[in-house]
Amino acid sequence: MCFTYSTRWYLSNIWWKSSSAPTNWPLVGMLPGLIQNTHRVHEFVTDALVESKGTFEFHGPVLANLNMLLTSDPANIHHILSKNFSNYPKGVEFRKIFDMIGNGIFNVDYELWEMHRKTTMSLMNHPKFQTMLERNMWSIIENGLWPILDGFAEQGTLFDLQDIFQRFTFDAITKLLLDHDPKSLSIGLPHVPCENAFNDSLDAFMYRHFLPESCWKLQKWLRIGKEKKLIQAWEAIDQFIYPCISRKQEELMHTSRAKDEEFIFLNAYIRMYNQWKDGDLGTLQTFLRDTFLSLLFAGRDTTSAALTWFFWLLAKNPSVEKRIREEIQQQLNLKEGENLKFFEIEEARKLVYLHGALCETLRLFPSVAIEHKLPLEFDLLPSGHRVSPNTRVVLSFYTMGRMESIWGKDCLEFKPERWISERGGIKHEPSFKFPAFNAGPRTCIGKEMAFIQMKIVAATIIYNYYIKLEDQIILPNSSVIIQMKNGLKVRVFKRVPLMSN
Ligand code: HEM
Repeated sequence: MCFTYSTRWYLSNIWWKSSSAPTNWPLVGMLPGLIQNTHRVHEFVTDALVESKGTFEFHGPVLANLNMLLTSDPANIHHILSKNFSNYPKGVEFRKIFDMIGNGIFNVDYELWEMHRKTTMSLMNHPKFQTMLERNMWSIIENGLWPILDGFAEQGTLFDLQDIFQRFTFDAITKLLLDHDPKSLSIGLPHVPCENAFNDSLDAFMYRHFLPESCWKLQKWLRIGKEKKLIQAWEAIDQFIYPCISRKQEELMHTSRAKDEEFIFLNAYIRMYNQWKDGDLGTLQTFLRDTFLSLLFAGRDTTSAALTWFFWLLAKNPSVEKRIREEIQQQLNLKEGENLKFFEIEEARKLVYLHGALCETLRLFPSVAIEHKLPLEFDLLPSGHRVSPNTRVVLSFYTMGRMESIWGKDCLEFKPERWISERGGIKHEPSFKFPAFNAGPRTCIGKEMAFIQMKIVAATIIYNYYIKLEDQIILPNSSVIIQMKNGLKVRVFKRVPLMSN
């Protein structure tokens, strides 16, 4: 399966490619090179890492505490995320950068993290969770996605598919966790005040990774640039999330026990708070806000970003799309001329080739493109590099999908077959080679849920509609979650259902 010329061009050149690592200037170090490349930070990091065979020492300005060790070496990833996990907590620096998330799961370590993880996992493994997930998904597809796509198809409207996916995942995760449907995916695509807030804050978090702390703190104090947007985003998100929590709490106080048991998310976290309230968690409201905000971040943009890249790659590779359509027809037993209306989570598991195509998308465009760690103690990495407690270690998952040493000479090609085993199932790749869902004890809790969501949405769109790309230049943004900077402009057409051969 081959990439079209333009896709290959994009992946190997991405509109401007520097051929050398940044210059290390006296006093300011490599900061000028980084600033010059902030609009293409993932490619800048990738150029440096590919050239230095997977590990690169970035020197920041003197006294700015911005020295970094960038790595995309699977042995280092394995060491940091799994083997020597206890030496690489999220730590104080991480909390400073992601201050908006407070005491949510992404920001905390040790016992509080364990409690968060245990609680969230037990809820996601609850027998009612899958039913709730399935019901919510189909309700949003039926009442939001289909009417909108049908309307666009009838009128030949040009629209942003990324925006549609962001609205879809936002409604889905909010309904699932907070039992509130913001209905952002409705006819007319209403403005939802906190919608841009998520993207603006992710942008600002990314800048904080690479700017000296004093710079972004000054911007924050002056209320300018990305920091101004972050302050506004923070306010918008709070204005959305606090009322959702209060409404649910109010409802729980006046509800019968049976109804109370139906909505378990909030209750479980209230119980957790009561166990922990001596541990400086702020008020119950703040703690619930932090908890749910982390989960909204986890579930919204990661999944919508992956879906957007997937549909772009598919449009460039029509033979992959054809194979997925045939698989859907065969595995879901669709009759001649029948549209795809509804299928269960269990049936989604049969769509192996589609699963492979989604893995392949995440290999090339891992939604969480980078992670950063600060070692507690001196350490020697498998690559031979030494890190001290002051060294920021930046793990570039984005680069890993582009390294011949990891994926072979065809690493820049979109090949779902890479993921299909000889026996026809999904080929297992170790998470330190494919860390799109992280690796080790902090592996993503929502992986299974994300695949279910992506497969259901992807299958229903692929089978019932044809997506045509508008001519456009695709640029990834420079954010922690890698999305398309200017969205994905498309038109949609209704398909004539497949006839069997
Ligand atoms: C394509 C979709 C997704 C991708 C690529 C993804 C990827 C990741 C990654 C890389 C991490 C590690 C982040 C870090 O430690 O800084 C993570 C953690 C996490 N993810 Fe996902 N995720 C996805 C969807 C979801 C969904 C739908 C949920 C459900 C709410 C979810 C819940 C979580 C949680 C709770 C954590 C924190 C785990 C911990 O720190 O122990 N994720 N995810």
